[in-house]
Amino acid sequence: MPGIYIHIPFCKKICYYCDFFKSRDLDKKEAFIKALQQELAERAGEGSDETFHTVYFGGGTPSVLSPGEVEEVLEAVYENYRISEDAEITFETNPEDIDEQYARKLLMAGINRISIGCQSFLDRDLQLMNRRHNAAGSLQAVLTAAGAGFRNISIDLIYGLPQLTQEEWEKELEKALGLPVQHLSAYLLTFEKGTVFGKWLEKGKINIPPEESVVEQYNALIRMTKEKGFVHYEISNFGKEFFFSRHNLLYWSREKYLGFGPSAHSYDLRERKWNASDLKRYIQQKEWVAGREKLTDTDHFNDYLLTSLRTMWGADRQYMKKTFGPEMTGSFLRSVAGWISTGHITEDNGNYRLTDKGILVSDTIISDCMIT
Ligand SMILES: C[S@@+](CC[C@H](N)C(=O)[O-])C[C@H]1O[C@@H](n2cnc3c(N)ncnc32)[C@H](O)[C@@H]1O
Ligand code: SF4
Repeated sequence: MPGIYIHIPFCKKICYYCDFFKSRDLDKKEAFIKALQQELAERAGEGSDETFHTVYFGGGTPSVLSPGEVEEVLEAVYENYRISEDAEITFETNPEDIDEQYARKLLMAGINRISIGCQSFLDRDLQLMNRRHNAAGSLQAVLTAAGAGFRNISIDLIYGLPQLTQEEWEKELEKALGLPVQHLSAYLLTFEKGTVFGKWLEKGKINIPPEESVVEQYNALIRMTKEKGFVHYEISNFGKEFFFSRHNLLYWSREKYLGFGPSAHSYDLRERKWNASDLKRYIQQKEWVAGREKLTDTDHFNDYLLTSLRTMWGADRQYMKKTFGPEMTGSFLRSVAGWISTGHITEDNGNYRLTDKGILVSDTIISDCMIT
């Protein structure tokens, strides 16, 4: 079921780990919204045959938008695209932007799922990451959103931070899982090139924590979320039943999506294309698309492995044979055999899934199974 992604490329402060496309130039917000409305209108033809079931505001920081601006953008979405009545409409927020009035206005504008970037419940780690909020702010934001009436709340957490101990992580998880949240995305910190953390790592000013402690943190994450009734449905995602992210599921099941705003990607089942990661150019409305790539049969096959193996539904042999033919399926079966024998993948009636042990080295396994 197709979806719409809208990239809001502004942040008030830049986190030291983040390499998403963003700008601190909030003076350009008004001009950006005009350009976004125009892009939504001009590309309407791309969605004319579809009904969209999800709309996702990501960033950057969508919560730098005023409620009026959110309404304006949503109006342009509804004017130009057919959106299903029960669509999931998600809005990413930073904790310090959420107060009772803002949350209520988001609900009134039609947002029905809020994603809150708590990242941590420890002041030390929030400071290390250069976040704007403190630990109390992480907690309060969730309570405020729930108090305002949100019934579909997701939070983001990051683990594998250099100083984070096992005890601290388990306490953070206890706090998180005690909150009125239905969904949790917990990401292992990656040290991206070009970010402050990436530079610190090169200079030896920060260390990647030892693998054993990261594994222990991940195991606690799996155990504690399960105890609280969350389903581990994707490597980094945990949701109560009926609260899995419908928008992310569409990426993992390779459905059509249209992406708007600088750096946003689109996919129409045949071709991937992306907008320039350049705010100035976007505002000047020179052209929306910066690059495109037609997908070959091998690309489709590799995408299938990459997305299906990340989820609890796994990869299916029959589907593979029917869709990609015996040769590619044979290549997969040869590669996967070794991973089954080491306990990294389980096979059940032609369905292949990563085990908990396999999830920890998922990138290696998936790239080994891909055709290059
Ligand atoms: C676009 S941001 C979320 C929205 C919001 N701006 C915020 O910071 O709360 C998407 C999420 O990706 C995660 N993330 C970004 N960079 C990461 C990294 N290098 N390592 C681990 N997680 C990362 C963070 O949890 C973040 O909340
Ligand atoms: S994590 Fe969120 S707030 Fe921080 S820089 Fe990235 S997009 Fe901006």
